[in-house]
Amino acid sequence: MVKERGNFNSRFTAIMAMAGSAIGLGNIWRFPYMVGQNGGAAFILVYLFSAIFLCIPIFLAESIIGKRTHLSTFGAMDKLAPGTRWKWMGFLTVFTPLIILSYYSVVGGWSIEYFLKSLTLSFSDPAVGMEEHSAVFGRFISSAWTPLVFHTVFLLINAVVIVFGVRGGIERFTKLTTPVLFVLIVLIMLYSVNLPGAKAGIDYLIHPDFSKLTGSALLSAMGQAFFSLSLGVGCILTYASYLKSDEDLLATGFFTAIFDLLFAIIAGFAIMPAVFAAGIEPGAGPGLIFETLPFIFSTMGADAPWLCDVVSILFFLTILFAALTSSISMLEVGVAYLVDQRKMSRTRATILLFAGCWALGVLCSLSFGPLKDVHVFGMTIFDACDHLTSDFLMTFGSLLFVFFVGWKMKKADVRDEFTNGGSLRLNRKVFNVVYFFIRYVAPAAIIVIFISNLLM
Ligand code: PFF
Repeated sequence: MVKERGNFNSRFTAIMAMAGSAIGLGNIWRFPYMVGQNGGAAFILVYLFSAIFLCIPIFLAESIIGKRTHLSTFGAMDKLAPGTRWKWMGFLTVFTPLIILSYYSVVGGWSIEYFLKSLTLSFSDPAVGMEEHSAVFGRFISSAWTPLVFHTVFLLINAVVIVFGVRGGIERFTKLTTPVLFVLIVLIMLYSVNLPGAKAGIDYLIHPDFSKLTGSALLSAMGQAFFSLSLGVGCILTYASYLKSDEDLLATGFFTAIFDLLFAIIAGFAIMPAVFAAGIEPGAGPGLIFETLPFIFSTMGADAPWLCDVVSILFFLTILFAALTSSISMLEVGVAYLVDQRKMSRTRATILLFAGCWALGVLCSLSFGPLKDVHVFGMTIFDACDHLTSDFLMTFGSLLFVFFVGWKMKKADVRDEFTNGGSLRLNRKVFNVVYFFIRYVAPAAIIVIFISNLLM
């Protein structure tokens, strides 16, 4: 299995693949509307703080386990702590990504619909105003059938890629799409910050108003940081198992995290100024980008229709690719577990996970329409899946990983893996700090977050 999976070719491809998993709908779709719902700049500060001081150590802990064993979660834990219950973390890594994938693929389906719309050049009509765009989106997600068709198509693409092998495809794919994604988001940002009325949006992003930072906003900021870096679900562990033994974990972790953070911030500046320019409510929720971007494109359409058409096609295509490179990594974790440990064929494992995901996704999709009055713990099914995974299961998984590396593994082994047997000078120097964060700071902080989430 290890041989079959092989290694990432170079540090660049490894970082692009990891960044490809990290950068996704979480950055372009979830981050801007979370910022909008939770008070703007103060939320971003907490997000940045937790990403740097909490999430990077967790990222490194997961990577250490993956690179040390070159195995997927279950096998990795079993190898490092033989005969213990740690290997049952393999279960968590099947279920958590599956639940995430269920609702993620609903939004992935929305991206397909909007990509197809851009292909029919439907965004370049400057006469279509903001309200019309919002109404169109509202009608689309609350209808029963069309979103289900696209949800199914999105999941099918995932399944096909996984069945026919990810490595060559994903590596080649992310190497190309991740840099393109950056170029496009920067272009949209430049356009957006120059729109009339954009200044209020920029202020919203740079002047923190701590009075708006409620306890639940604080927890959402941390949850968003976990979500954005794909932590606590074995995804980073599995990808790190594809790293070469002499790869520098600090470098891959640092660059992946920086690219991911940078992308989220740029996406915030691409979306929020346009939201204000359009007079939309920043706390509009999950539909934010699907209502805002078409509006930006149609104002662009007044000056240069061809530019609008090209940019909108490329933009929705990149959102779709960003979503796919993340969702494929979610599916791969579960499939790797079933193939490795349950000795299932790749195709069977994929079909099984596809079926589970599809069924839950159907409920998530319908929770915007026919099932909108069905509530789980006071939330729609879609919101409940999101809340359960990003605020509980991902934090719980992260806790287990840092606990394992900080308290179960021998310190000498952790150092050995982090410094490649002592050969990396910088890593030797920072090891004690990183280890302190993994052993004490991260578990303590996660326990506080977890309990607070339970009490909220
Ligand atoms: N990090 C991805 C995003 O920001 O869209 C979401 C994600 C990917 C979550 C992979 C979990 C995961 F295992």
